[in-house]
Amino acid sequence: MKKDFQAFVNKYKMILDQKLFTYVEDLHAPRILKDAMAYSLKAGGKRIRPLLLYAVLDAFENAPELGAEVACAIEMIHTYSLIHDDLPAMDNDDYRRGMPTNHKIYGEDMAILAGDGLLTYSFFVVANCTDLTFEKRVRLIQEIAAAAGPEGMVAGQVLDMEAEGKSIDIQELEQIHLNKTGRMIVASLLCGAIIAEVPEEIQKKLRMFGTYLGLAFQIQDDILDKVGETKKIGKPVGSDVENKKSTYVTLTSVETAKTYLLDTYQNAVEILDTCNLSQSYLKNICDWIANRSN
Ligand code: IPE
Ligand code: IPE
Ligand code: MG
Ligand code: MG
Ligand code: MG
Repeated sequence: MKKDFQAFVNKYKMILDQKLFTYVEDLHAPRILKDAMAYSLKAGGKRIRPLLLYAVLDAFENAPELGAEVACAIEMIHTYSLIHDDLPAMDNDDYRRGMPTNHKIYGEDMAILAGDGLLTYSFFVVANCTDLTFEKRVRLIQEIAAAAGPEGMVAGQVLDMEAEGKSIDIQELEQIHLNKTGRMIVASLLCGAIIAEVPEEIQKKLRMFGTYLGLAFQIQDDILDKVGETKKIGKPVGSDVENKKSTYVTLTSVETAKTYLLDTYQNAVEILDTCNLSQSYLKNICDWIANRSN
């Protein structure tokens, strides 16, 4: 495992933040829209998806900077998904990233539009990565659009809404989690792999790794909704119970959810081993995801 993980996180979070804020500030768009978009980006967040992309580039001996624009695009999509997820029509949450949710400050109309702006602009950003070939840009757009769209994250969000107040089984719950959360995590890894020209065989393994990692990430999110601290997670504890959500915790228990988390984490780590990536930052991120309290 790499020892300088914290330095890696600090460095690339800073690069990401600077670029993200500049993108929004430079937009020729109404001030209110720029403010609403910047508000949720500036509120912070763990930036796990961009860091996964950077970690793949580093693992395959490419400069992480090569992925700086694509990392921004992925974080824009993730942030849009959070703004819309918090809306009264969806999870109706008042806090996010330690601040009032976007609609609490800018109103539902502007929150919806800020999300629309972030989602759409993300694809403009990838299309304009002049350091990457046209072919790579198209592959990246395919990968991200497939993960974020109606066969990926949006599908997962629909299934999540439909499962409110219902008793579904663990397989159905797994499908929700793999789509609403797993797909963007897989896409983050694959974008790194596309830029670094990782061989197809290893790309397949990274997809499997990301699938387990995404599931582990959401199981821990479910656990933290029950036993986390609002101050640390930056969002309300108990939101899932209030919304009658189907989660690993509401359908089983915190203890059982922890065993699912451990199994899923171990599966992810085993795949890393088979790719000779146990010494990469990807392993540090795995450990972070499984043990995180924020
Ligand atoms: C929250 O994602 C939404 C889920 C997919 C569980 P994160 O936990 O990555 O949120 P931030 O970006 O750190 O705020
Ligand atoms: C949201 O899942 C997943 C996406 C935003 C796509 P949750 O609803 O569990 O996320 P939190 O707990 O509000 O962050
Ligand atoms: Mg939700
Ligand atoms: Mg939510
Ligand atoms: Mg949650």
